[in-house]
Amino acid sequence: MSFLEVNNSLCVEGVPLLDIARDYGTPAYVYSSSQIIKNFDNYFSSIRKDDKICFSVKSNSNIHILELLANKGSGFDVVSSGELRKCLIAGGKPENIVFSGVGKSIEDIELALKEEIFSINIESEAELDRIIEIAKKNGAIAQCSFRLNPDISAGSHPFVETGGKSSKFGLSKTNALGAAKKAENSGVIKIKGIASHVGSQISKKEIVIKNLDFLMQTKKDFQEAGIILNNINIGGGLGISYKGEDQLIPSDVLKEVVDKLALTNTNLIVEPGRSIVGKAGILLTKLEYLKRTETSNFAIIDAGMNDLIRPSLYNAWHNIRTIEKSENSNEEFNIVGPICESADVMGEKRGLSLTKDSILAILDAGAYGHVMSSNYNSRPRPPEILVDDCEVRLIRRRESFQDLISTQTNL
Ligand SMILES: Cc1ncc(COP(=O)(O)O)c(C=O)c1O
Repeated sequence: MSFLEVNNSLCVEGVPLLDIARDYGTPAYVYSSSQIIKNFDNYFSSIRKDDKICFSVKSNSNIHILELLANKGSGFDVVSSGELRKCLIAGGKPENIVFSGVGKSIEDIELALKEEIFSINIESEAELDRIIEIAKKNGAIAQCSFRLNPDISAGSHPFVETGGKSSKFGLSKTNALGAAKKAENSGVIKIKGIASHVGSQISKKEIVIKNLDFLMQTKKDFQEAGIILNNINIGGGLGISYKGEDQLIPSDVLKEVVDKLALTNTNLIVEPGRSIVGKAGILLTKLEYLKRTETSNFAIIDAGMNDLIRPSLYNAWHNIRTIEKSENSNEEFNIVGPICESADVMGEKRGLSLTKDSILAILDAGAYGHVMSSNYNSRPRPPEILVDDCEVRLIRRRESFQDLISTQTNL
């Protein structure tokens, strides 16, 4: 299952990555279907009948992966009409879709209303005004929740923290209460609940519980003000182990969450992304050149920051290994991409045994990988390949040069 070594060769669900590199070329993202399902089931088996697991589409938005999850009963957390439309194509049910994000456009809101999704999660008073206006214009009832800013740190990289007081996300409790009263008076909003996502790569259960306690207290405060809430959305954010960090087990965390919610008459919504797809994907890449200088050994690979931006953007650490084990001893390399930026470094001081034909795997790249890729340096985006029990499926082809120029006018 998943990514395992067989006879010194790294395989995905029993298929040698060497074969995939030969058939599809590099760089290429490769995913394990069974790993995605296993990770999802760890969440899904821990919730009650009316609770929802809404996969966070921003972490990986390939429609085939969304379809895999929709077929298992997943809902979706989206942040744009593009993500919403992908979920609908994948067979996602509107009644299991929540829509977050601080900058929802008129088009986003119109689509969410037309599709009657479960909840638009409001992040500001101005957004509420826009929703009321659009709902009135279209004769629609908008199902909404309020996203709160809990002033809780996720304890991770500042760029993936979203719950601090100074962040752009969510409403303060006082402002949320004011907005909820306005929403009720509008006659076009049905209030579904409250939400709070403190950030990504959380490694401590106490943070999740602190966020839940904050939401449970907020629900009580709303109730005292006469506003009844049936749903609490604790966001996503459970981290994965990239470099031996503590990794929370979703079922453990959810057991405590569900226990706390018992007797409160509240349904739970969870929005995991990274913990479902992160460890289920790798980026396959080949060595282009070895370059030895007076100060460093560089291994120049064919995957760059345009393919996987996490190391350059967040200083993120990914394990990088050759897919074939070698008998030779390791040397230390800085593993760099071909992009003309000094930040294009995938890993520093990595001990590897490399030969001129080496193929490498950048591990744990299934989340915030392909979705954050770009065409920088006019490089086509890589393909995505999904392996399901020996069946290898191309779920996104490699971009061509024609794709790169197809939106440029008057050529
Ligand atoms: C509102 C919201 N929910 C869920 C997530 C998913 O987080 P993660 O991938 O860490 O589970 C994010 C990501 O930042 C988010 O902004």
